[in-house]
Parts: sequence; C-alpha cells; structure tokens
Amino acid sequence: MNTPEDSTLNGTKISRRNILKTAGVGGVGVILGASGLGGLLSLKEGKAASSETKEIIPFYDKHQGGITTKTQNHIYFVSLDVTTSKKEELVKLFKDWTKAAALLTEGKAVGPLSSNEFLPPKDTGEAAGLSPSNLTITFGVGPSLFVKDNQDRFGLKQKQSKELVDLPKFPLDALEEAWTGGDICIQACADDLQVAFHAVRNLIRIARGKAALHWAQTGFQRTKQSDPKNETPRNLFGFKDGTANPDVNSEKQMNETVWVQPGDGPNWLVNGSYLVVRRIQMFIEVWDRTNLREQENTFGRYRDSGAPLGQKDEFERLDLEKKNEQGEYSIPVDSHTRQSHGDGSQKILRRAYSYSDGMDMKTGSFDAGLLFLCFQRTPSKQFIPIQNRLAKMDKLNEYTSHRGSAIFACLPGAKQGGFIGETLFN
Ligand code: HEM
Repeated sequence: MNTPEDSTLNGTKISRRNILKTAGVGGVGVILGASGLGGLLSLKEGKAASSETKEIIPFYDKHQGGITTKTQNHIYFVSLDVTTSKKEELVKLFKDWTKAAALLTEGKAVGPLSSNEFLPPKDTGEAAGLSPSNLTITFGVGPSLFVKDNQDRFGLKQKQSKELVDLPKFPLDALEEAWTGGDICIQACADDLQVAFHAVRNLIRIARGKAALHWAQTGFQRTKQSDPKNETPRNLFGFKDGTANPDVNSEKQMNETVWVQPGDGPNWLVNGSYLVVRRIQMFIEVWDRTNLREQENTFGRYRDSGAPLGQKDEFERLDLEKKNEQGEYSIPVDSHTRQSHGDGSQKILRRAYSYSDGMDMKTGSFDAGLLFLCFQRTPSKQFIPIQNRLAKMDKLNEYTSHRGSAIFACLPGAKQGGFIGETLFN
C-alpha cells in the first residue's frame, strides 16, 4: 500500500522522501531525463541534509502561513464560488482541505497512487520529486459566504463580522466581475510556481461539486536565486516596492497591525487577518515614455536607491516637511509615498506580486501590473482610508487601473488534529 508520499514513475513505486534520504540530501533533487530510476535524480552537490526541512513551513500553527511568512518567489491565487448549499459538505470540504494542505506544504502527494489503474490517481503528480519550496496555503472566506442575494446560505449570518463586507466603490475603480469577489480564497505561495499550481489544482479537485473557480491570478517577484543579497523587490515600474512595511518579526507590530485580537469582533477570527486583494493593471508602455523626474515625483522616491526624495537612504524615516531649492516639498503632495503614508497612523502589511498575463486584447498593450495583497486587523481603519486618499489624489493613478478587487477574512491557523475554519463552523 502506498503512503501519501509515495508516487510512481514509469511503473516503479518510489517514495520521494526516501529517495532523497537515500541519496543523502534534502529536498534539492532535480529530475533530469526521467527515463528510469537510474537516471532519475541529479542532485545538487554540497547542500546540507537539512535543506529539505528548511523548505517546509509548517501548516499547523497559531496563524496561517503566507501572511507574515517571508515572501516566496511565486503566488497562485484563486477565488472560489461555493456551489453546494449543504453546510455539512462545506465543513467536510474544509476538513479535507486541511489534511491535504498539511501534506502539500510538506512536499507530499495528497493521496496514494491508486493500485487500481482504472481510476485516476489521487494526486495529479506534477510536483513529484520537487522540494516543498516553502509552500504556504492560506484560506480565507468572503462576505458572500455568509449572505448572498439576501440569503443566509449556511446559517452563518450571525457570525459575519462588520468588517467583512464588500469594499466601498472607490473613485476611478474600473472593476470587472471576472476579477472581483468570491466566497472563498486560496492563496498558494511557493518558491516554485509548479509547486504552487499543483497545490491549488489539487485543492480545487478535492472541492469538485462543492466549490468552483471564480477567478485566478498568478504572480511573481524576482527570485531568491537572482537576488542573493535579498534587497527590496522592484515592481514593473522599476521601483523598490515593500520598503515601508511593518516588521513581520515584531510580534507587537503584527498584533497591532495584522492579527485580529480578542474583542475586535467575532471570536472566530482571533489570530486571523483580513486580506484585501486588488488586481491593478499598470500601463507600462505609458510609464516607459515618462521621464525619470516625473517617475520619481510620482512615487516620491528615487528610482535607483529607493530613498525618499531629498533623502539618502532607502529605509530613512520620511521627512515630509523637507523642501527643495524651489521651495516645494521634496516629496510631492500628490506622490504615492506621501498619499499612502498619510499621517502615518494607518499601516497595512503589503505582500504584493507582479503579474504579467500576456496582452490586453482591448488595447493591444501588455496586461501586466500588480496583484496587490495586503493584510490587516481592521480594514475600515487601514486599507479603506488609505485607498480613499489614493483614489482621490495619487499621481500614480495616471499610470494604473484597478480592475479586480476582493476582501476575505483569513481564518486563524489550525491545531494538529483540528481544521481550518473550525472556529467559524463549530
Ligand atoms: C500598482 C499599484 C501600486 C504600486 C506600483 C505601488 C508601489 C509603491 C511603492 C514603489 C512604494 C514606495 C516604497 C515602499 O514603501 O514600498 C509604495 C508605498 C506604499 N504603498 Fe503602494 N503601490 C501601489 C498600490 C498601492 C495601494 C492600492 C495601496 C493601498 C491602498 C498602497 C499602499 C502603500 C503604502 C501604505 C505604502 C507605504 C507608505 C509609507 O511610506 O508609509 N499602494 N507603493
């Protein structure tokens, strides 16, 4: 009998973990010319045996992974519509997802390869032999899971938090149904896109008959391999993006900014967080025709160093009073940095990824931009006031268009033996 970590290649039963252990290395195996076990693994030399465990982010924890986790190279984000009307089926789905997600984050298959060749294999197989790649899977629930078309779909209405409501319409929003809303979200982040895709694909497969895709978006950052110094990643406008984020290593800051606390609202979300997602198209062709001074004034930061205009260091505290030789504010009044900072009291944890989806058929330009994701404790005091300011005043609006939007409550983490959503459904 195969275990979930077993798989088969060319008819030979193999356990990925065992192969890697036998070979004396961690999860760094690379399949080359898979013509049989003999030629199966080409293993990078000189990696410590512990590298496999280093690439695992435990699924069972107080908080879900993928929120304060150091940003991985890739994201596969999906929004789902629940198609079942039975609460028991929904709860069973979350239980099944929890078990599967725990296996996936350890780099294991979601189920044994069936001994019956007339049945489809339980796991789709494309991650066999790949390292866990720091995969995190984050589940969230949207307002429409609670009430849709005035229907209390699953008897959860009483539990809906007043923060978990559709976002207001902001000036300049150009939202499309195809990229907006959803009953449930799954955010899979990993250092390998195939690993992230495999996770989402198998979770959706498990949901068959209970939930279906509403929209999906991949995203990327520069990889860790190409940036060993681990500098702040750059967005598709070429600017460092993520500089002024709260410190994910400070429990105090995360409790103040990101994690829902007792007394904030319904108890089921304590240790969870609200996620706001915006699919923002960036008009890169227009930007590329814009002179450097204008680009820097748009962000209020230098393109090269990422330092605030008039200042030296990327991480320097903003000096919003500083003026240039012409007597104007060095960081322009309508710049993105000044407008998003406001008086500094509203903070969000940004965890954005660039996206590139081929061509925008309407305009013939690139459909590329930012899958903007931010986590927070209270959207009405964090994302919403910031976005209200930006939508009115931000110079960046000349170069961007918000085409998708959603809000989700990312559930607290699950204990071993428990399941994601337990606090909500029980
Ligand atoms: C395509 C859209 C966007 C791009 C390209 C972008 C890019 C940037 C860049 C380059 C910075 C300066 C460096 C940094 O601190 O990371 C920044 C800062 C920031 N952005 Fe954005 N951003 C976008 C959308 C948004 C949205 C929608 C929000 C929230 C509503 C937002 C909130 C912030 C905040 C809070 C800061 C830090 C401000 C501070 O210095 O305190 N951004 N963004």
